[in-house]
Amino acid sequence: MKFPAEKLRNIEPSGIRELFAKAHGIENVISLGIGAPDVHTPDGLKEALKKAVDDNFNSYEQTPGYLQLRENIVHKYKTEYGVEYSSSGGSIVTCGGVQLIYIALQTYLKVGDEVLIQSPCFLTYPRQVVLAGGKLVWMPSTSDFKIDIEKTKELITDKTKMILLNFPSNPTGAVMTREELKEIVDLAVEHNLIILSDEVYEYYTFDDYKHVHVGSIEGAFERTLTVNTFSKTYAIPGWRMGYGVASTDLLKPIIEYHPWVIANATTPTQIALANFMRTKEADDFKQKVKEIFQKRRDVIVKGFNTLNGISCQIPNGSFFCYPDISNSKYPDCSEFSDKAFEEARVVLVPGTEFGPGQEHNVRASFGSVNNDQISEVVERLSKIL
Ligand SMILES: Cc1ncc(COP(=O)(O)O)c(C=O)c1O
Repeated sequence: MKFPAEKLRNIEPSGIRELFAKAHGIENVISLGIGAPDVHTPDGLKEALKKAVDDNFNSYEQTPGYLQLRENIVHKYKTEYGVEYSSSGGSIVTCGGVQLIYIALQTYLKVGDEVLIQSPCFLTYPRQVVLAGGKLVWMPSTSDFKIDIEKTKELITDKTKMILLNFPSNPTGAVMTREELKEIVDLAVEHNLIILSDEVYEYYTFDDYKHVHVGSIEGAFERTLTVNTFSKTYAIPGWRMGYGVASTDLLKPIIEYHPWVIANATTPTQIALANFMRTKEADDFKQKVKEIFQKRRDVIVKGFNTLNGISCQIPNGSFFCYPDISNSKYPDCSEFSDKAFEEARVVLVPGTEFGPGQEHNVRASFGSVNNDQISEVVERLSKIL
C-alpha cells in the first residue's frame, strides 16, 4: 500500500543524515560531518537533571516554558546585550531551535510569501520554508561569505515577508559586523520584513570578534525573532532544548501556535537548565569550549591550506569551515566528498547541501574531532589529493 505525503514531494532528504547513516558502524572513519560538539555535558547540569527527575518535575509545564528558565533567558539578554525582553510574553522554550524555526515559519507565512535566505545556509531553513508554503529567494554571498546586501536589495518584491540571518554561520563560520547587519535591518524596516535571526553559535566567536545580537540593533527589536539553543552552549543536542526571544507582539502568535505542535518543551530538562544556567560552572564551560574550538580552528585551517588545490578561509565563529576545492583534483563537491569517504574514510559534507551555487565547497565540522584527528584527516586527504 502507498501513503503519499504530498508535502514531502517538494523537499530533498537531508544528505548529512544520509552520510551519518553511511558512516555508522564503519571502522576508522573520521567524521567532520555532523554539527555537534564532542565535549561532555557539564557535570553540574547532569546532576541538575537527575535531581529534577527525582524531585518529580515530570509533568506538563506552562506552554511557553518554565517561568524561572524564561526569566534566566531574559536576564541573559539584558546583561549580555543590554536588550530587555519580557519573561512572560517575550520568551519561549522549544524542543530545539529547529522547532522554533518551524513554528515561526508556519505561523507567519502564507502560501506564496517570499523568504530571503542566504546561500549557503543551514539546510533546515529551505525545507522548512517550503513546508510552510513559502517561496525561497536565495541571497547571494560575497567572497567572504557575508550576505551580498546590494544584490539582495534587487530581490525584494511586494511578496517578501521575511529575511533569515545566521551569524556566526553554519556552514561557513562567517560573521557580519554590526554596521553590515544594520544595513540589513534598515532594509527590513523599509520593506516591513520580519527578521528571523538564528544566533545559536553566539558563544563561539574567535579572536577579536564579538557576537552581535541583531535584536540590539536600532530598528530591529520589534521585528526580530531570535532563535537560540542550549544544544551547542552546554553540549546537550540530545536534550532538544531551544529557545527564542522577541517583542511580545511578534512572539504572541508563535506562543499560540506552539501547543498545537508540542504541549511544552520537556519539563525536567527545563528545570535542570533553570538551576544551572546562572552558575559559575556554566560560564566556565562556555569559555572552555570556545578556547577548544578556537585552537581546533587554527589547526584545521592551517592543515587544509597545505593541501593541493584547497583554499580555506578563516572562520570567525561557529565550529565549521568551508574550504574551496575548485582547484583540487576533485573540483566537484559531491565527487570530493565521495572520494574523501571511500579512499580516506573522512566524512565531509558537499556544499550543494547548503544551497545553490555551492558546487566547489565542502563543509568540515571541527565540533567533534580533536587536534590529533584533524591532523590525521589532513594526512589522509593529502594522500588522495
Ligand atoms: C544554524 C543552526 N540553527 C539551529 C540549529 C538547531 O539546533 P537545535 O535544534 O539542536 O537546537 C542548528 C543545529 O545544527 C544550526 O546549525
